[in-house]
Amino acid sequence: MSATPARSGAPAPAVSPAAARARQGARAAPVTPRRIVIMKLVVFVAALYPLGRLVFFGLSNRLGANPIEFITRSTGLWTLVFLCITLAVTPLRRLTGRTELVRLRRMLGLYAFFYGLLHFTTYFWFDQWFDVHAIYKDVLKRPFITVGFGAFVLLIPLAATSFQAAVRKLGRRWQTLHRAIYAIAILAILHFWWMKAGKHDLELPKIYATIVTVLLGFRLVWAVIARRKVALAKAAGPLKR
Ligand code: HEM
Repeated sequence: MSATPARSGAPAPAVSPAAARARQGARAAPVTPRRIVIMKLVVFVAALYPLGRLVFFGLSNRLGANPIEFITRSTGLWTLVFLCITLAVTPLRRLTGRTELVRLRRMLGLYAFFYGLLHFTTYFWFDQWFDVHAIYKDVLKRPFITVGFGAFVLLIPLAATSFQAAVRKLGRRWQTLHRAIYAIAILAILHFWWMKAGKHDLELPKIYATIVTVLLGFRLVWAVIARRKVALAKAAGPLKR
């Protein structure tokens, strides 16, 4: 076990950007732009699988006795899956040192929005037949719809500001805005949980709740450690003089 400089009372050594890069390089080989393009292409195509599966099932009459329910549930579940994968990017990057994973985050987040949009459109179109008043009443009446709707509404500004121009324009506010992904994940779990609780079938919601708890817990622990490091570095500061 290595003693941290802060614990031993010595000031924390400054790590130059070059040293940080060297340390990073020791953990993971640098990735060429070509490999990043290939990686993005593979993820882009793979993420179309849920849509392709629905189209294939639709064309071959395999959507079951209640196709609307099948499509609603399938798109709902895939929205949640993509939310979880998007949330997993940062922990994976930190654990593996593979910084290139960040290059996939925007695409994965947009896929979460895409499947969320399909999910909502199926409900809006085939379940409610564009009856805005009925939807309004449903959102107010059924808590699982209320939170699902909340999650989807929160996803809209994230998707709309996921492009480079918005990142530049919003500056620091962009990061604050995109922290809404945590609230979205929690609302999505509540939506799933309440829906399945009515059917006494909580097995899957429990699995997803655990995944989201671990992914958010990781960030919480990391934020606490980062704050502690800053506090310790500040406390060690006067020793330098
Ligand atoms: C981020 C947004 C959302 C996520 C992650 C999400 C996720 C889910 C999930 C996981 C399911 C259950 C799938 C299964 O049974 O395996 C589901 C079902 C459902 N969701 Fe969503 N949903 C979201 C937004 C919405 C919105 C905006 C609405 C409508 C206003 C909605 C309406 C429904 C309905 C009607 C069902 C099916 C209920 C049933 O079959 O009894 N969801 N959703």
